[in-house]
Amino acid sequence: MDSIFAATDVTLRDGRAVHLRAIRSTDEDELLQAFERLDADARYMRFMRVVREPNVDRLRKVLASFPESGIGLVATVPAADGIDIVGSALAVIGNDPASCEFSVTVAGNYDGAGLGHALMSALIAATKRRGLVEMEGFVLRVNAPMLRLAARLGFTILTDPEDASVAICRLKLAGPSPARH
Ligand SMILES: CC(C)(COP(=O)(O)OP(=O)(O)OC[C@H]1O[C@@H](n2cnc3c(N)ncnc32)[C@H](O)[C@@H]1OP(=O)(O)O)[C@@H](O)C(=O)NCCC(=O)NCCS
Repeated sequence: MDSIFAATDVTLRDGRAVHLRAIRSTDEDELLQAFERLDADARYMRFMRVVREPNVDRLRKVLASFPESGIGLVATVPAADGIDIVGSALAVIGNDPASCEFSVTVAGNYDGAGLGHALMSALIAATKRRGLVEMEGFVLRVNAPMLRLAARLGFTILTDPEDASVAICRLKLAGPSPARH
């Protein structure tokens, strides 16, 4: 995993520093604590439904499936107990081995400082190095910050034909370069 993503320190727009590195199975407790710190609105935006409790089994399975079945990155800051995870971004490979589904979460007190952009940029670079061809994500239409972020990162934003309240954000990771004019 670390060959896919070399850990790096990032300074955010507001001057705060975070450490970006590949996710580890030992991050489970800190990821659960990060979930507990998310407010109801952020949880709703992330999971597109009301989620009061974290799905620990699912989290464990996803962590155990990496790096074979995807790439995960976390942003950490020092804390009294070692670290806090203040952001994470996942690219999960499903049935199609060439494509992945992204998700990204930033702690409320880090919102709007560019951490989502830093995590997604690093995730996109890592999926490209891995040779994946397409990244896709499902985002609620009301999730303006995520749609703005996706647009800035070059995603095409489509309406889910099955649910007009959901946008499908799609990014080509590999393939022929666009023609030059
Ligand atoms: C979506 C999310 C990841 C964005 O993270 P972030 O660190 O705030 O993102 P950034 O600061 O890099 O960029 C967000 C962009 O949205 C803009 N933005 C912030 N609030 C906004 C709002 N209410 N309306 C429109 N744009 C907004 C920011 O200005 C920024 O755009 P800019 O870079 O052009 O200025 C974060 O809000 C989050 O974790 N939300 C809950 C989980 C979620 O929704 N995940 C996405 C679905 S998987």
